[in-house]
Amino acid sequence: MREILLSPDQRFAVVQSEPWMAQALEAIQQASFPSLSRDELITAEHYQAHTQVFPEGQHAVVERETGQVVACSTDFRTRLDLKHYQHRYMEAVANNWLSNHDPQGDWLYGADIGVHPAFRGFGLSTLLYTARQNLVQRLGLKGHVAGAMPKGFAPYQRDLFIEQYVARVVRGEMFDPVLSIQLKRGYCVWGIIPDYLDDPSCGNYGVFIIWRNPDLKGNP
Ligand SMILES: CC(C)(COP(=O)(O)OP(=O)(O)OC[C@H]1O[C@@H](n2cnc3c(N)ncnc32)[C@H](O)[C@@H]1OP(=O)(O)O)[C@@H](O)C(=O)NCCC(=O)NCCS
Repeated sequence: MREILLSPDQRFAVVQSEPWMAQALEAIQQASFPSLSRDELITAEHYQAHTQVFPEGQHAVVERETGQVVACSTDFRTRLDLKHYQHRYMEAVANNWLSNHDPQGDWLYGADIGVHPAFRGFGLSTLLYTARQNLVQRLGLKGHVAGAMPKGFAPYQRDLFIEQYVARVVRGEMFDPVLSIQLKRGYCVWGIIPDYLDDPSCGNYGVFIIWRNPDLKGNP
């Protein structure tokens, strides 16, 4: 396993995911998305396939002393029309198989990030976002996009429209356990996608977020 990035205390390393990790990755997925529809969860078979489709886009975080796989992220390359960004998660990820990965695609699409609950708050998502942004820069892509799940929305949905909730999170007046963390990593909100996926914690919404490659001059 080649270590791509180390945590500041050197306890954890980001590596490229390997087929033998698939069961551990599935366990992280199940622990990370307890209210996501079963049909939309990434399984061990999917994770195994991803390592063939686009190995560089699959990242895992390993605790170096124990070898335990504790976090992961999933990405593929795609072309984008930012004027028409409405879509469903399952269409984007080809039912979680990533078979529409486009080797010439000029954007990296973030399908998934999850940190095992016992390892949250240790900066592991920060490590994974850095690894993904480094990949965008190394491949000379335009940037990184994702459909963020605003998982703090459910308790507010009687009182606030999703647009109001997201605006408050962006202004830092409310904390969302997913979107606030992504904003800290430099992502911007591009738009809101109704019926992005099937998860009551985020009212089925996705928030389309963008991080642009700072190396590309005039990156629109
Ligand atoms: C969202 C998630 C990936 C964050 O992972 P994490 O490794 O715990 O996050 P980090 O430790 O890297 O924290 C990132 C930042 O958020 C802050 N943060 C994390 N949890 C926080 C909380 N509960 N309250 C306030 N701030 C928090 C950290 O302090 C850090 O900020 P800093 O860079 O200014 O220090 C993780 O909670 C998770 O796996 N959730 C379930 C899966 C999911 O929803 N994925 C996203 C799908 S779109």
